[in-house]
Parts: sequence; structure tokens; C-alpha cells
Amino acid sequence: MAHHPTQDVNTSANEHFSDVLARAQISRRSLIRGGIGLAAVSSLPMLAACGGGDDDVEKKLSFTAVGKSIADSVVLPAGYTFTILHATGDRLVSSIPAYSNLGTETDDWSQRVGDHHDGVEFFYIGSNGRYSATETSRAVLAMNHESSADAHFFHAKGQTSNGVNGKKFSQFGDWDLGARPADGLEALKEINHHGVSLVEVGKNAAGKWEYKVDSTYNRRVNAQTPMRITAPAAHLAAVKAFMVTAYDTTGASSRGTLNNCGTGYTPWGTMLTCEENWAAYFHMPKGSTGVDAKLTASLQRYGVARAPLADTATVGSGQGWHTVSTTDNRFTRWNNSAVGASAAADFRNEPNTFGYIVEIDPMATTTPTKRVAMGRFAHEAAVFGKPVVGKPLACYMGDDSRGEYIYKFVSAANWDANDVGGGMAAGDKYLTEGKLYAAKFNADGTGQWLELTMADPKIAGYATYAFANQADVFVNARIAADAVGATKMDRPEWGAVNPANGEIYMTLTNNSSANRTPGKTDAANPRAYADNDGKKGSGNPNGHIIRFRETDGASTATGFKWDIFLFGAEEDAGASINLSGLTASNSFSSPDGLWFSKATGICWIQTDDGAYTDETNCMLLAALPGSVGDGSKITVENKMTVSGAEVTAKQDTFIGAALGEAKLRRFLVAPKGSEVTGITESADGKALFVNIQHPGEETAAIGTASAFTFQSQWPGNAGYGPTGRPRSATIVITRTDGGVIGA
Ligand code: FEO
Ligand code: CA
Ligand code: CA
Repeated sequence: MAHHPTQDVNTSANEHFSDVLARAQISRRSLIRGGIGLAAVSSLPMLAACGGGDDDVEKKLSFTAVGKSIADSVVLPAGYTFTILHATGDRLVSSIPAYSNLGTETDDWSQRVGDHHDGVEFFYIGSNGRYSATETSRAVLAMNHESSADAHFFHAKGQTSNGVNGKKFSQFGDWDLGARPADGLEALKEINHHGVSLVEVGKNAAGKWEYKVDSTYNRRVNAQTPMRITAPAAHLAAVKAFMVTAYDTTGASSRGTLNNCGTGYTPWGTMLTCEENWAAYFHMPKGSTGVDAKLTASLQRYGVARAPLADTATVGSGQGWHTVSTTDNRFTRWNNSAVGASAAADFRNEPNTFGYIVEIDPMATTTPTKRVAMGRFAHEAAVFGKPVVGKPLACYMGDDSRGEYIYKFVSAANWDANDVGGGMAAGDKYLTEGKLYAAKFNADGTGQWLELTMADPKIAGYATYAFANQADVFVNARIAADAVGATKMDRPEWGAVNPANGEIYMTLTNNSSANRTPGKTDAANPRAYADNDGKKGSGNPNGHIIRFRETDGASTATGFKWDIFLFGAEEDAGASINLSGLTASNSFSSPDGLWFSKATGICWIQTDDGAYTDETNCMLLAALPGSVGDGSKITVENKMTVSGAEVTAKQDTFIGAALGEAKLRRFLVAPKGSEVTGITESADGKALFVNIQHPGEETAAIGTASAFTFQSQWPGNAGYGPTGRPRSATIVITRTDGGVIGA
């Protein structure tokens, strides 16, 4: 993910569940547990559906937990080792120089691995050169490259503004940026590192995983790559109207994908890449009065403009890419003021072309495609429910900003297993037409999916924003979810589906005290507290993981049951905060990446944290979950100082069964300043691919000094590539005895 703007742009009046509790008589009885949906459970051979007994545990989590670490290295359990597959700046073709790690590249990075390795998916190449659903000796590793927060490392002396170098721009834009260098090279390196890299990988003669320079599968999709727009046929013309820019005055296509965070793996074998904090890249100068009121409202709800457009200050910032040229639209596109006579003459609509799920065929050069029916927001990741032949597919998605929502897309088409390997045509079949829902979590442990449709008078008649049509609902899905009363969550990050029982898990990474105080909790976001040793954060600084089971296990369900799988906490935080009973072997904070191994059924949890980093770097943990409802109803005793006064309040919620050290263990701790994100595996479960993003993130700008003082030297200090600057990288974890990871 990389650390977030997490600006509070959800000003809707959607209620917190404290209001619900105050209004309704909530039953104190525990929910009726067990039974429901279990008939639909299909056990994996190696994992009992409901967590199993201790025998299963001993078979599964066989490694010794690693302790907390603040070392500048990757720490793994005894018996495990790692190699590095590729890192920021590595070349995809031999016709350009190997990466210097000095910021001296003169190419535009369009043929290099991007920065900020994030979500990752693994696709086997079949004998016909196309997708194979079963293991072969060749694969494409498809990887997101998220943010430009470390773009100062791409240049010899940091970033340059108004002729002054040594700068470090925020991922989320700086106010009143001066002009970037007119030759455009700095800006192009920064623009092109975003997006997705696709590289061929395989084992060399010695059995070591490597990527192949010059493979015909190697490909970059970046923030300039042409994109196709799809939407339901009945609404396509109206959707295109939102996409009209000087680049394509028909609105049928757009350019580029940005801030690609988590990924998705479709049942037919393509990659989904998710556009998260795209709003931060645009420049909205003060007094952009040519932009109409509805677009203004949209820009503000999505965080592109952070102040009224008529304000006297700059209202949106960006990276200054728009300053490079007044005529070259590779640069002018980042200025979203209404400088032309109409939307077709400028880039006022450019922000409407970002915020989507984008499908990429990892084996073909088909045009990457934006799936508008899946909604526009700060897409974190996308995960499919278990496909059932003859039934629609469900895809679950989080909107990662403070107080945003969880969404579900349900395909109109029923799943046909013959579509496996169908590439983009299969994507057109399943992801063009469908229904979009937002989640409402009730205080009684149930939930509802609220369809975002103009057929709902709450949307069609929404007073805050006058929706014109269903296209407007897709493009402004956040506002539609406001209108129907979805539940504001503590920053929804990745989702994952338990292959053993089809239950859906979502990480809620954390929230600030501006949003969670003891008076502003609800059953699904029940904690409000201050960091127990007073070092870092208050609100819900350590986050939690929620899970839910669809009614009858159906993709089309409009109801579900939920509980909270785990609460992040420091192990010494006290029982009112450390609700999951974490210990030194498994304490964690700010869960972000989340993924189930198909080989072992292990639920892997990755952290991107700023609240526990005084004691430990970010980490990867293995968990063996049970199922929704295996725990109990509890009352959280919240206590926090708000505006100088201590506030206490009780909040009822539902928590899963405690896992203990037998079923939850820390597996990896990452180098300084990094987060752990993106995870996939070889089909045999013997190689785990894990991304280490932004080591050394807190390295300061050079400023007036002559050189960086690096927070991290990884992976150079681990023997990979030129030493010096830290680089994001993919590691391949194996067992020294060649066994299955974690089992
Ligand atoms: Fe890109 Fe929300 O992490
Ligand atoms: Ca993330
Ligand atoms: Ca602390």
C-alpha cells in the first residue's frame, strides 16, 4: 500500500453504529452459531473446514515463530531461506543498461521493473504459449507498482522543482510545486514506474527462481498505456461522456493506470490491477471555475480537490508533472482545470478515467481494460468468491480511505468453466455487465448488500448529488454508497476468500482518532483507544480483520453474517485492546495484504504499519482460521482522551475464536522502513513470492546536504544488485529441505 493520504473525504451523514445501538434494543444473546452454510463447505484435503483440532495445527504451522525485529534485513524462521527475484529498476530488456542504483538512468523507465512492488499474481504458461491452469515450468509474474513516494531515488540528486534539486515529494502531492525540469526525463521516469510489470519467471538449472531478461512475455503497462473502457451496454454511451478528454474526444479509451495497489486473479486466468490513490496525482489550481458544480462535488468526494475550487489557495497538488510542457499532453493531462472551451479540449475529465478495476491478460498484448461496472473508488484489491458453475461470480473489493466502504460486484453472466483460459474475451463476458453493491454491517452480526442502482429512490433522489443516470452511479460509486447508507469502515484493504468454506475476509488496516473515538465506534469497527505505551497513534491504530459468510454461501446473496477474525494489538496492550489475546509470537499492527494459499489453506496476513514500528518492522504472519460465528459476542470497553478529557464507552461486537500461538504465528519480519505486501505461490506451495515495498521509506530528502542518509540499505546489503539506495523487491521464500511453506 505505501502510507496513505487517508484524507477524510467522506462527509456523508451515514451513521455510526453507536447510533443504531442507541436506537434499537440489541439482543444480548449470543448469535446462534454453527450449522449455517456448513453443508456447502468443501474441505481441502489438508485442512479441516472449521479449523480442526490440534492434530491439524501440528500438521500445518510447523515453523517456529520469529520475534519482532528492527533489523535492516528479512528475518525468517529456521529452515527457511530467500532469494531476490527482481527489484526496482531492473531491466526487462538487455538493450538498456543494468540499473545503476545511482539515479543516473537516461532512459524513461518504460522497459524497467517499476517501483513499490505491491500486489502480485502468478500465471503458468502452457505449451501453446497461453494461460495454463495447471503447473508448467514457465510462468508470468504480474506485479503492481504502487506509488511515487520514493521517486527521489530515481534521480541522482533527488527530485527537482524550480531548478532546485534534493527534493522529496510526498506520494500524495505537495502544495504549490514549482516547475519540474523541462526535458521531461524526471517526470517520465516517475510516470512510467507506475502500473504493472509482467515478467517471465522460472527455475534455473540450479533450481533457483529467476526472471528472464528479453522474454517476449516481458511487458510494462504504465501510467501512459492505452486503455479500453467497458460498461454495461445500456449505459456505455453515458459512461463515455464522463471519459471525454482531449486524448479521446469519444471517451472510448483513456491513458494509463495509476497507484496500482492490490491485485485480483480471475477464475479465467487474467490479472486485475486496482487503482488506489490516483486522486493525488492531479493538479487543480485555485479558481478552477470552469469546472461545473457536479464535477466539483465529485472531485472533492474523491479527494482530487481538497478545498473549494474558488478558494484562494491551490486546491489540488499532484507531482508537478503538468509543469513540464504547455503543449505536450503527456504532461498537460495532469492539470485538470478547465482551460479549454469544452471537456473535449482539455483534461478536466482526466480524473474520471482513474479509480477502476483494470483487467490485463498476462499472456497477450490485448489492450488493458477498465471495468467501469465494478465502480470507481480508491480500489485496494479484488477477490472472487468460489466460482460455482451455472451461478454468477462475486468479486469483493475495498475502498481504502478512512471511513470508506466495502463493495461487491456480481456478474450478470453465469460461470462456465469452459471459459478458463478465455483471456480478455472472458473478462468482457463476466466483468462488463453486473450489479454493484456496498456493504452495511448491522449491530446484530448480520449485514446487507445495498445495490447501487438508479432504481433505488435513495440514489435517484439523493439531495446531496443529483445522479444523472446509472453511468453517474458507477463513476461516482462512493457518493451512491453514501446515499444508500453503507457502513463507514476503518480503511478497507485487501480481501481474501477461504478456499475451505468460501468465507470472505477483509483487512481494516487502521483509523485515526478523528474518525474513531469511544463515541464514534460501531459493531464492525468497535475499538477506540490510544497506543498503550503512548508512542504511536490513537483511534484504531492497530486495525482488525473482519470476515463474513454470504447467506446460503451464494454469490448473489443480499445478506451475510459477520464477525471479527482478529484484532491487531501490541501483546502488552491490555485485555481491552488486545482482544484476540496476541502474544510476542504473533502480535501485529495494521493488517493490509491478505491471501489464502491454495496449496496449504494458510491465511497469510501482511502488515503496512506506522503504529508498532517503534518495536518492530512490518511483517508476514500465518493463520489457520475457523469460521464465522466460532467465537462469541463481547463488549469492548473503550477509553481514550478526547480534547483533553477522558471518554469511556462500551461497544458490543462479535469476535472469532481465539487462535493462540498454535494457529497464528509471525513468519517474516521485513527490513527497515518497508511494508510487506503482495504474495503468491508456485502451485506446489514450495515457493512463496512476497514483496518488500519501500525499504528506507523514511530516508529524507537531500535538502542542502550533499548526499542521502539512508534509513535502509536493503537489498544491496543482502547481496542483491548495486549497494547504496534501498529498493523495493520480490523475494522467493523456500524451505531448505524443499518442503511446502508453512505446512
Ligand atoms: Fe495501497 Fe491501501 O494500500
Ligand atoms: Ca495495501
Ligand atoms: Ca506502542
